Amino acid sequence: MIKTNNSFIFNSLEILMFFCLLSSMNLSAQQIEFEQRLISMPGWKIIQDGRLGNCVTCHTIQLSEKSVKEKQGNFAPALSKVGAKYTPDQLRQWVTDARRINPETLMPPYGSQAGINNPNFLKPLLDTQQINDVVDVLVMLK
Ligand code: HEC
Repeated sequence: MIKTNNSFIFNSLEILMFFCLLSSMNLSAQQIEFEQRLISMPGWKIIQDGRLGNCVTCHTIQLSEKSVKEKQGNFAPALSKVGAKYTPDQLRQWVTDARRINPETLMPPYGSQAGINNPNFLKPLLDTQQINDVVDVLVMLK
């Protein structure tokens, strides 16, 4: 009788553990799918590209626990949760011209050349479409 009870408890625990394992696997599968979707977006390339946004020179974007972040900068706050902190319009403002939010900022204005002496290009670093692409990624970082 006791033996049967024990094995009943054991079985229940096993089943519980199985479901816990299954749900954690499911979570990471979702995370992997999310990350794959994110890194296939045009804005992701702009954020990483040293000749375009180059955001990761100053910012860290850590997606999951295991994702690599060694090559990313820690000069500026991490962007990993920035989609929960700001509205899409606020994020667009940060990227277009952060000086409107913080006049003393050290973040480059990607959509404006106002006040810049001797710019390397005759146009802003990113055009409107590229800024929108970047914002599409930022809003997903929650
Ligand atoms: C030269 C370094 C530098 C680069 C490159 C840079 N940023 Fe920043 N960024 C900063 C700094 C510094 C801050 C902190 C706020 C401040 O100083 O005004 C900041 C703040 C931000 C914020 C607000 C963060 C918060 O938590 O309040 C966002 C969003 C942001 N940056 C997005 C970007 C994106 C997207 C790019 C690339 C297109 C980028 N940054 C490139 C330096 C940089």
